[in-house]
Amino acid sequence: MPCPIGTDVIRAAALLREGGLVAFGTETVYGLGANALDPLAVAKIFAAKQRPKFDPLIVHVSNAATARELVSDWPDRATRLSEKFWPGPLTIVLPKRECVPDLVSSGLSTVGVRVPAPDLARELLKAAGVPVAAPSANPFGRISPTTAAHVAESLGGKIDYILDGGPCTVGIESTVLSLAVSTPQLLRPGGITREEIESVIGPFGSNGDGTRRGPAPSPGMLSKHYAPRKPLSIVTSFSQIDEPTRSGLLLLGPVERDIEPAALEQLSSEGDLTVAAASFYGALRRLDASSAERIYAFPFPDVGLGIALNDRLNRAAAGSGDREA
Ligand code: TXA
Ligand code: MG
Repeated sequence: MPCPIGTDVIRAAALLREGGLVAFGTETVYGLGANALDPLAVAKIFAAKQRPKFDPLIVHVSNAATARELVSDWPDRATRLSEKFWPGPLTIVLPKRECVPDLVSSGLSTVGVRVPAPDLARELLKAAGVPVAAPSANPFGRISPTTAAHVAESLGGKIDYILDGGPCTVGIESTVLSLAVSTPQLLRPGGITREEIESVIGPFGSNGDGTRRGPAPSPGMLSKHYAPRKPLSIVTSFSQIDEPTRSGLLLLGPVERDIEPAALEQLSSEGDLTVAAASFYGALRRLDASSAERIYAFPFPDVGLGIALNDRLNRAAAGSGDREA
């Protein structure tokens, strides 16, 4: 069943206040929003996405002052990071106040808060007058949506309105950083890099010998996620591709190749990771819809946004090929 798509902020805000589900564009991916203070509304998110209840939701607010009302502690680091990166693709995890329902935090004593960048998204949050819990607006485990049409394709029949903010400019999810522990912990790499965060609060999360630790375990970070329906393999050379003419290929930039794949997605002609991130999920969707039977992807350079892109690629490979949505 189709669902209304448009830019009517007043209508979308009223639906949120009434306990409805509204998908909306952010700079990272489209979110599937509900009033975060209304457990019945939040329950609809889990039902629509078929999302397990142990996976906590990010709460979206229009400014840092509103974020502070949801948490019981606001350390100096939160002030500095929010001043630098909000509005923007950084989610900060802090001890929650009681007003945040357990369903939002999956029973944890913390909550993730973020201020999304687009004006339209913040107008929605202001007009709604309530904090909005919103995971990515895709069926659980599947490819995240970066346009209103992506949302309509997979969840259209289950939501009340899609607020069309155009294509997402960052294109991969926010970085999730916990400040609820004595040493900040990077729970999910995303649109703000570790280097950018460290430029504000100094180095964190390294081992005694100075080597970097990977992202710490986060409840929702299942290894299978962001996955296409076709099998996806990560390769480092063309010789690893069995039947090129039946394959789809995902590449960062132009490379010399002697094979002609059935479908090709080259994310940035300049090999630029920011450009690549903005088109990453859309490219995965096109490859999934193409005539190719398998998808092969080359890893990204492990720097800057490439770290978040490789994280998504590894999870997509782990979860791919499963035909149940
Ligand atoms: O960019 C984004 O963050 C998008 C847009 C819509 O804002 N949202 C998003 O939500 O990616 P979702 O639900 O797909 O991913 C949220 C992840 C959870 O899976 C979990 O790993 C982490 O954020 N998270 C949220 N709250 C947390 C908490 N209290 N403690 C630890 N991790 C948390
Ligand atoms: Mg998601």
